[in-house]
Amino acid sequence: MVRSGYGVVDSADQADLIIVNTCAIRDKAEQKLYSLLGRLAPLKQQNPDTILAVGGCVAQQEGATMLSRVPCLDLVFGTDALNRLPTLVDRVALKKARIVDVGPRVSGENHQNPRTLKSGEGVSRFVTIMRGCDNYCTYCVVPFVRGRETSRPPEQIIKEIEVRVAAGAREVTLLGQNVNSYGNKEGLVSFPDLLTRVNKVSGLERIRFTTSHPKDLSEELIAAFGRLEKLCRHIHLPVQSGSDKILHRMNRKYTRTHFEERVARLRADYPDIAITSDIIVGFPGETESDFQMTLDLIRGIRFDSLFAFKYSDRPNAAAAQFKDKIPAKEKSRRLQALLDLQQQITLEKNKALIGTRQFILVEGFSKISATKEVQWSGRTSTNKIVNFRDDPVRDDQPRQPGGNDLTGKLITVVIKNGFFHSLLGTSVIKSPIHVRRKGVQSRAA
Ligand code: 5AD
Ligand code: SF4
Repeated sequence: MVRSGYGVVDSADQADLIIVNTCAIRDKAEQKLYSLLGRLAPLKQQNPDTILAVGGCVAQQEGATMLSRVPCLDLVFGTDALNRLPTLVDRVALKKARIVDVGPRVSGENHQNPRTLKSGEGVSRFVTIMRGCDNYCTYCVVPFVRGRETSRPPEQIIKEIEVRVAAGAREVTLLGQNVNSYGNKEGLVSFPDLLTRVNKVSGLERIRFTTSHPKDLSEELIAAFGRLEKLCRHIHLPVQSGSDKILHRMNRKYTRTHFEERVARLRADYPDIAITSDIIVGFPGETESDFQMTLDLIRGIRFDSLFAFKYSDRPNAAAAQFKDKIPAKEKSRRLQALLDLQQQITLEKNKALIGTRQFILVEGFSKISATKEVQWSGRTSTNKIVNFRDDPVRDDQPRQPGGNDLTGKLITVVIKNGFFHSLLGTSVIKSPIHVRRKGVQSRAA
């Protein structure tokens, strides 16, 4: 859109083009979309030339239905129409037409054209390595809105990462629904091999990836954490439930014991690795005893943090037809009980880091306090947010980001306090220590 002459404005009422990007994974996000569109409608009445567009998975799912349901909408574009956006917007503007494009990707189209990137775009970037999913978990809408699993060729991924690094990125998160099956279908390189190639990109300091399916977590991937010094010590491994009956009904294709064994395997080699997860409460047929099994799993594993969700029916997903739906009130109760338990564990884990030294990548400054003291913010290899003061700054230097910019730098910080969402620290040394011993510390760690 920048190439078509568009720029970013501060608020929606100044915009000639408003694009709402959407997520269809849970019902709540979809409801939020419709209330947002309701709030945007008056802007369109004030200025009829404003173009209002909806993209992403809800657009893909609803298509023409959304256009007829929301009269102020000009454009609905699906997940595979992203690259056609400039043309679609031109057509809306010139012909004053309302358009729906939920058509397939045209072969040869890139996921994203890296040439449009500008410098100074951020320290940490996401890079899509694959799209879609073939797993058909019974609660999940992804296979229906994102289609079959397809992987991008490694050369294209490496190129995009190089362009991002040239523009200022120091960390990339490789994105896919199930990164462990990267390249399998197309006969490309394996995911651990892709990581090896990414590890060689010069100027890049850290690599993350998400998401891994527990059924496919291979020995090769586990070994990669020891082999690749840029690979961060964190894995997001969504378990969804601690009950084998529910896991089976979810079509997850692993048991609780398998999951526990994979976690033990990871921790045996890398005691410092952070493990985070997703959980759904109130899946159809989940009894109190199934739910207690989930709490028991959480107590046993002690995840670093958890994302937990109340089950919601999604269009086309098999579980929408399942009997024994759990009442909304009961789902809320289970969610709260789970969050209370996890909050305690996360807090204990964060407090246990007090006094330790952490190697962090600085993403920017978090705030300037009343005493004009700059507080910087970054992440540990284990993906914990650390806010810290840069103490070695001399008094005669201005205490402001422009004067002593740490953004993009790797800094050692000593942890002074631990909270639920973040850690607080002070910087101690400015030069990175490169230790590459397996299981002990890596450059990213
Ligand atoms: N209801 C609730 N949570 C869901 N998720 C996916 N589909 C649903 C659904 N229908 C959650 C899963 C997944 C995360 C991204 O969203 O926990 O891992
Ligand atoms: Fe959805 Fe399951 Fe695929 Fe994840 S693995 S995207 S939950 S179908």
